[in-house]
Amino acid sequence: MTVQKYTKISYYKYRRKKIASLSKSEIIESSVLRYTYIIQSHPSDLKTQKYMRKIMTLLCAMTIMLSMTACAQNKQEKETKEMKKTLVAYFSATGTTKKAAEKLAKELGADIYEITPEKPYSSADLDWRDKQSRSTLEMKDKSSRPAIKGTCENIADYDVVWIGFPVWWYTAPTIINTFIEAHDLNGKTINVFATSGGSDVKGSAADLKKAYPQYNWGESKLMN
Ligand SMILES: Cc1cc2nc3c(=O)[nH]c(=O)nc-3n(C[C@H](O)[C@H](O)[C@H](O)COP(=O)(O)O)c2cc1C
Repeated sequence: MTVQKYTKISYYKYRRKKIASLSKSEIIESSVLRYTYIIQSHPSDLKTQKYMRKIMTLLCAMTIMLSMTACAQNKQEKETKEMKKTLVAYFSATGTTKKAAEKLAKELGADIYEITPEKPYSSADLDWRDKQSRSTLEMKDKSSRPAIKGTCENIADYDVVWIGFPVWWYTAPTIINTFIEAHDLNGKTINVFATSGGSDVKGSAADLKKAYPQYNWGESKLMN
């Protein structure tokens, strides 16, 4: 009687309260503990004990199955990650994005490529307060394509390309457009990272996605 009362009322009350916050394996684990307690507290009730043992066997089997599935999934994810070749390509005018790119490439075990302007940017070029500075003029003219020194010759080898840049006027510098248009990025996942004085990377990522909808755009990351 006590057992019936416990299982039907307390257990469902417990489930209703806790279920939302628990993962599948936590639910199973807590159920095993509950039933172990019930069996131990009511040794005389043989029918209940038999019933509980059956449930416990079932729960244990489910726990093992869940763990095995999770392990298999992790292994598959790891293998897929290892098989994919990743490139971190970046442009940096004053060195901040370069540092972020090196950190990211190390984390990902990726190759690194610097997008180099044919004509380096001087401090005067980068003066955003000057309406006539090179950067201001380039960013005002969305069709500007500052020339780059060479291209990444083995770009075809990569499955994932991270493109990094400093945020200029809330978006990617137009030299990034030059880089994208100089390479065939079809079939690759393109991720974006940026450094900035505070602006988010999401606007830049959205602008690039809009400009090149034919490509497969993935995640974006601000690395300040
Ligand atoms: C021309 C210019 C425009 C910039 N515009 C922005 C901006 O809109 N938002 C922002 O947060 N930072 C802006 N910055 C700051 C840079 O994004 C930031 O300093 C960046 O980390 C520099 O990276 P780098 O050293 O790799 O060139 C701008 C900097 C320059 C030179």
